[in-house]
Amino acid sequence: MTATETPGPAPDEKLSMGIDPFEKNWMRLAFVLLLAFFVTVSVAGFALGFQVSGVDAEIDPVTAFDSEPWSNPGLRQISDDHYEAYVVSKTWLFEPRELEIPVGSTVDIFVTSADLQHGFKITDTNVNMQVVPGQVSKLTYTFEEVGEFPYICHEYCGSGHATMFGVVNVVPATAASDSAADDEEAQP
Ligand code: CUA
Repeated sequence: MTATETPGPAPDEKLSMGIDPFEKNWMRLAFVLLLAFFVTVSVAGFALGFQVSGVDAEIDPVTAFDSEPWSNPGLRQISDDHYEAYVVSKTWLFEPRELEIPVGSTVDIFVTSADLQHGFKITDTNVNMQVVPGQVSKLTYTFEEVGEFPYICHEYCGSGHATMFGVVNVVPATAASDSAADDEEAQP
């Protein structure tokens, strides 16, 4: 037996590590897909500003609505252009159904559910969260344009699901301060 007749893979077989050409193509495809997902997620997160809502807090869904802030949902003004909005989802409505803020305001939006799973999405914004009982979901958004931004429930929650909606009214800054002034004048 000569050296050239030594049993074992031919030199070019060794280089291919014995990987089947079909398998190689699938590996290439998997790599391209991973790359595509990486680019998509990067563009969504950094260029388009997509946000994922965090769990801000856990609450007791039985007792939380007996005390602030959940006993009195709605807007709280933190500073000139900074608000907090507390929104309760329940079958089948949002409390409150309307939030009015001056244009340019940044709003920390806290949403929880009083019964079952709901969704909370503000149209034409990147605010989109799942609403789960016992959990407070939070996202922050700055409303830079005057207009009406409806919010809807986007998790099917029963026969009244389609009636679960409300609206963020973004008003010109002067109109907002006028109505605040009117409120003050109206007080005795
Ligand atoms: Cu609540 Cu759908």
